[in-house]
Amino acid sequence: MSSSVKGMRDLWGDELRWFRRIEETAHRVFGAHGYREIRTPILEYTEVFKRSVGDSSDIVAKEMYEFLDKGDRSVTMRPENTAGVVRAMVDHKLLVNNDPQLLYYMGPMFRYERMQAGRYRQFWQIGAESFGVASPESEVESLAMLFDFLQGLGLKSLSLSLNSVGTPESRPAFNAAFRAFFDARADRFCEDCHRRIETNPMRILDCKNPGCQAALEGHPTIVEFLDDASKAHHTRLKELLTTLDIPFTENSRLVRGLDYYTRTAFEVLSSDLGAQSALLGGGRYDGLVKQLGGPDTPAFGWAIGLDRLAMVLKQLHGEAPFEPAPLLIPLGEAASAKALQLAREWWSAGLRVQLETRGCPLKKSLQSANRMGMKLALILGDGEFEKGTLAVKHLETGAQEEWAWNDVPSRLKG
Ligand code: HAM
Repeated sequence: MSSSVKGMRDLWGDELRWFRRIEETAHRVFGAHGYREIRTPILEYTEVFKRSVGDSSDIVAKEMYEFLDKGDRSVTMRPENTAGVVRAMVDHKLLVNNDPQLLYYMGPMFRYERMQAGRYRQFWQIGAESFGVASPESEVESLAMLFDFLQGLGLKSLSLSLNSVGTPESRPAFNAAFRAFFDARADRFCEDCHRRIETNPMRILDCKNPGCQAALEGHPTIVEFLDDASKAHHTRLKELLTTLDIPFTENSRLVRGLDYYTRTAFEVLSSDLGAQSALLGGGRYDGLVKQLGGPDTPAFGWAIGLDRLAMVLKQLHGEAPFEPAPLLIPLGEAASAKALQLAREWWSAGLRVQLETRGCPLKKSLQSANRMGMKLALILGDGEFEKGTLAVKHLETGAQEEWAWNDVPSRLKG
């Protein structure tokens, strides 16, 4: 076999540098908000996803890497991380005292999807979940963090698309009104929508079929059928977003492809993404903790696709800044022992130096340094060894100078 599994790719070089940059920004920004990192296993019992993401969702119905392990238990490679985080919170009894719990994660997810630009079968997400608070304030805190994170990475043309998907209690009224609307023009909807009207009518709203989208013109909105508390929640959320200058548009057709959402649902689109325009999505999921065996706990969160985010950043800013470390090239046995000693001092002082350990002719080392894009070669030959210096070659210009060993830290920092 000479290729990686379809839809799964190696991360290296520039793309990986963007990933690292994004991850470092996430640790910094989320840490400032008091969020703590959690890492859950990639494999979970299949039930964890069936009971949360939902049997009727595309993810569970078609996209899961699901198999029997050697003990005949059905396990699944996580298609998302919210369910796993909730499972972990319940397992560790972290929600019993009703303290707010703020968590974030990053890692690979797996969905057996049709390939497209920015859509993979192993992809990466960074997500944040806040447990224990039902208020619109907690949503805006999380969204402000999200926007600070994205803006910290230099993203500007972002739009928050917002809806409320109601509660299990308010949905029957919407479903009834929607059913009547659907029946009056049923022949204009696709086969999938005819299936959805029985299983999960709301999902018809985001059918990708243009004919169905046209047929939806004038549809009853979920917001119209919200109970009073959900309506007040939605209004307050919009007020707070406005106060914080977080721009949003209301989108009555936004329903999200996972079944656990209640009230607030949202996506952030980036115009730089083309067909795969959803950079991230999330919302409130007040019923999920209980559904997975925990105490009744409100929750809100979102996850962003790292692959897509890195793609947008590359489009906007080009290559992630990177400078290879200078190459320290000792010539001869005595010099190579000294070079090891010197390099060790410099490494522990936090300097970046790569050591040539091949003992090869200088020309070969310089050729490699050039191919690796290095800017400086620090050469330790016999003459330099005796004087306690290095011959420093600037590889781009060919200019050469001499540095005393003691001066190297300040010179490299400069
Ligand atoms: P999701 O909308 O399924 O939500 O995924 C979130 C993001 O993951 C998407 O907006 C997209 O950027 C990225 N993504 C999804 N599938 C792929 C793929 N095949 N290739 C590349 N990127 C992909 C969730 O996963 C929820 N757990 C979000 C959440 C957290 N809701 C509450 N808390």
